[in-house]
Amino acid sequence: QVRIPVGIHLDHCSNFEYIVSALRAGFPSVMADGSLLPLEENIAFTASVVRTARAFGADVEGELGHVGKAAREGDYLSSDLYTQVEEARIFTEATEVTALAIAFGSAHGNYTRPPKLNITRLREINEAVKTPLVLHGGSGIPNEQLTEAFRNGINKFNVGTEFSYLNQKYTGQYFQQTEDRDG
Ligand code: 13P
Repeated sequence: QVRIPVGIHLDHCSNFEYIVSALRAGFPSVMADGSLLPLEENIAFTASVVRTARAFGADVEGELGHVGKAAREGDYLSSDLYTQVEEARIFTEATEVTALAIAFGSAHGNYTRPPKLNITRLREINEAVKTPLVLHGGSGIPNEQLTEAFRNGINKFNVGTEFSYLNQKYTGQYFQQTEDRDG
């Protein structure tokens, strides 16, 4: 019933059967998250999702490098999990994903210390691949860094924690007001 276009996307899924059930249910976009797999296995898994999704006319987002949890500092402060430029080129060419989620300093959830996005790595990946790039773990990243990320190749960014926090806060306020009014 809403008047703006709404897209439905299955986020972070590493279960092939579950992805197929989402495609069957009409999802126009899915994420095949093989980011914890070795490169070759991530390619094989993601490419099989892309082949299947094509039959449904759906888009597929893949993930390379691993965007971990903000509660674990090692997941975003160390570059060990960052996406490698050459691997990004190989992965996007082999899988033909619609979009690629990359790791360059962000993580999911509430950061324990301010993140510092590695814009150089982002720029290098953006120059090496034609695929649109995705930033996960968008909550809590300072605006100046987000602007730099958008300027240097990020086409989509995911925000969950901030949205859930506000949703919970205003839902709570609403029920409190209703209770104060109606007793
Ligand atoms: P945040 O919850 O950290 O905003 O991350 C959301 C996300 O990346 C979902 O894929």
